[in-house]
Amino acid sequence: MLDRRHLLIGAAAAALAPSALNAQVLTDEQRSALKASSSDPTLAPDLLLPERDLAWWRDAKFGVFVHWGLYAIPARGEWYMNNEKVSPEAYAKLAAEFNPHHYDPVSWAKLAKTAGARYMVLTARHHDGFALWNSPASYGHFDAMHSAAHRDLVAPFVSAVRGQGLRVGLYYSPLDWRFPAYFHPKELPENAALFKRQTYAQVEELMRRYGRIDILWWDGGWLAHRGTDADAAWFWEPDKLNSMVRRYQPKIVINPRSGWQGDNDVEEGGAPIKGPIRARPWEKTFSINNGAWGYTPEDSVLSTDQVVRHLVDAIVRNGNVLANVGPDREGVIPPKQTETLKGVGLWLKRHGRAVYGTRPGPLQPVDGVYGMTTAGDSAFVHIVGWPADALSLPPLPRTVVSARNLSGEVVNWTADAKGHTLSVPPSSRGSAVTVIELRLAPAAT
Ligand code: GLC
Repeated sequence: MLDRRHLLIGAAAAALAPSALNAQVLTDEQRSALKASSSDPTLAPDLLLPERDLAWWRDAKFGVFVHWGLYAIPARGEWYMNNEKVSPEAYAKLAAEFNPHHYDPVSWAKLAKTAGARYMVLTARHHDGFALWNSPASYGHFDAMHSAAHRDLVAPFVSAVRGQGLRVGLYYSPLDWRFPAYFHPKELPENAALFKRQTYAQVEELMRRYGRIDILWWDGGWLAHRGTDADAAWFWEPDKLNSMVRRYQPKIVINPRSGWQGDNDVEEGGAPIKGPIRARPWEKTFSINNGAWGYTPEDSVLSTDQVVRHLVDAIVRNGNVLANVGPDREGVIPPKQTETLKGVGLWLKRHGRAVYGTRPGPLQPVDGVYGMTTAGDSAFVHIVGWPADALSLPPLPRTVVSARNLSGEVVNWTADAKGHTLSVPPSSRGSAVTVIELRLAPAAT
């Protein structure tokens, strides 16, 4: 039986202090969560999307991630095959059991919409190599078509998400534990060629067959669980790979985990978000089910307040949030994760104007205290911790004409030469964050 402490966990691993990291032997799964993608910015810079094509993604702020595959059956997380040293032959038997009677991507997409998400990303194929679509390029026909489901599960996902007016993302992992060449790419050239060909051909299937796809979410470009994704660029040739992607999907947003720098950065795990506004657009991703990304019984699930806090801490620093759920083997998103998402939706209904379509600033965030977003003639102060009864802010580049509390009834606002003071009585504060909208005088022309 697997030791629960080794069940990954992006959140827990990323929360480890650097000193703890040295003192402790990490599992491959934990190292995967921690590896930084330090891509070479000179590699194929012409593939980067122009700002106008990334604007929708920057405006969207919030997406729902879905980790779903055969690993939902043993229910011990998506690293089950590797962590428990299950042979490819034994693991393949799970396909005969995979028949998700309650798979209803329309209900998933409706939930994401209710949660206030603007995009959804599905693990079309994780590190176990099992493809959720009808994939002729899959080595050994390891796909949904040849499972007990006998159908393509990606096509209905794409149309359901699109049907709810959300943007569509697909996650693809080049890593496939079934190939010995993954661990010994130089020593096993024939297997390596097969392995590489599968990735190119499967990604081509995903990019060619399902109409417009808005996000390609790479993961696991590294080799032999070592180094970074960028270290494996010699093998995958991510410039070629992503050029092929752009031929089919010229405007797709590509993340940085293929070894190419990508259109946005990614920060993984549930550790607190800190520091100044980041220059490159980025995405915080974590699992709402703390136990793993793929399905496990719901031991510890993030609360709505915890997700809202990540969202606010991300958007005031130029980031988005991609919050993950892990449906069970039947295709059902478990109840506590559903509740958390619905709560986020209620919060976004009330605070959406301070979130969607905004840009960070003008003031730099102060960790654990506040951060700001701006849209048009409004600046929003997101207060995550009150240092005292009142919060003092330095002057803003534009004159403030009035203040409104989006999270409660009362806000007292005063301005003088030194800046602004905001005070909100405890009964008018939000439980995770208090958002104050400052109306600004028209910008001087
Ligand atoms: C980590 C995990 C992987 C998960 C991913 C999501 O890399 O190892 O299982 O899919 O995070 O970001």
